[in-house]
Amino acid sequence: METIKIGLVGLGTVGSGVLQMVTQNQDKISNITGRQLSVKTIVVHDINKPRQVNTDNIILTDDLNQIINDPEIKIVVEVMGGIHPAKEVITALLNAKKHVVTANKDLIASAGDELAKIAHDNHCDLVYEASVAGGIPILRTIVNSFAADQILEVKGIVNGTTNYILTQMQQKNWSYEQALKEAQKLGFAESDPTNDVAGIDAAYKMIIPSQFSFGTHLTMDDMQVEGIQNLQLADVKQADAFGFTIKLLGIAKRINNGIFADVAPVLVAKDHPLATINNENNAVMVTGIAVGETLFYGPGAGGLPTANSVLSDIVSVTKNIVLGTTGNSFNNYQHENDLIVAKN
Ligand code: HSE
Repeated sequence: METIKIGLVGLGTVGSGVLQMVTQNQDKISNITGRQLSVKTIVVHDINKPRQVNTDNIILTDDLNQIINDPEIKIVVEVMGGIHPAKEVITALLNAKKHVVTANKDLIASAGDELAKIAHDNHCDLVYEASVAGGIPILRTIVNSFAADQILEVKGIVNGTTNYILTQMQQKNWSYEQALKEAQKLGFAESDPTNDVAGIDAAYKMIIPSQFSFGTHLTMDDMQVEGIQNLQLADVKQADAFGFTIKLLGIAKRINNGIFADVAPVLVAKDHPLATINNENNAVMVTGIAVGETLFYGPGAGGLPTANSVLSDIVSVTKNIVLGTTGNSFNNYQHENDLIVAKN
């Protein structure tokens, strides 16, 4: 059976999960795709850093050209995060005709259209299921399963760190500071947790499904974004006494001929399904005219859950390579319509 070689850029929590899953789930993947997959080269910052995963028989390098100039490598997974230099890295990979799988919500939310065009011009796939809600397969669900329905609203808990913090404050009476420290220790928070607690990570994540749902490209300037950094334990307890739990919700919805989107801490009635989503878990509620309300729940962060979404993208790209249908991925679903962005 033919083997498709993969490159990785980044070997942190998610990269290590991807390596582990490619190795352990070989049989299932090759049954589905008709190809063996193997990770050939990994670009890392520090090649001498001790690693938790087995990298025997894999080239570890700090030189991206080892992937760019290797014709054997067809698919590259970018899990370094951040906007720069990830944007330049993905641009170079696409121009070298590599299919790219990324978990990078900051980058896709801010430069997704530009990168999708480069992918399209190079007949390459650019896919990013893992960029939103970690382990929940929400993007392909919106693209495929809501293809014919008209989506009215997408809302949910899309940041694991803040949901973990709010859960500990509510259930264990922890202070905000204590809960944040623990979330960092557990590895849910970004390296700089400002984006998590200020709602920016959630806003980036809402931009991506909003585009798939409504065909309207939102920017950060279109959204009112408020985080949880000013919440006190007393606020959480007061809400609790009135029968509510506080959740950081991202909401994007049709209003008249426009789209309204924001991220804010919201009082959620304790009997609402979103009130039951605890710890680092995420949930996305999609409401369509035909289907009504649907709810997708799962881990929003963590190595293996996020790696599972990356693997679903790798399998999808591999099938496209086999069928000769690459260049046809998410980018083609980013249809445009005439809905305007409703300002606050
Ligand atoms: N910091 C992010 C979160 C990680 O807490 O949800 C997953 O994107």
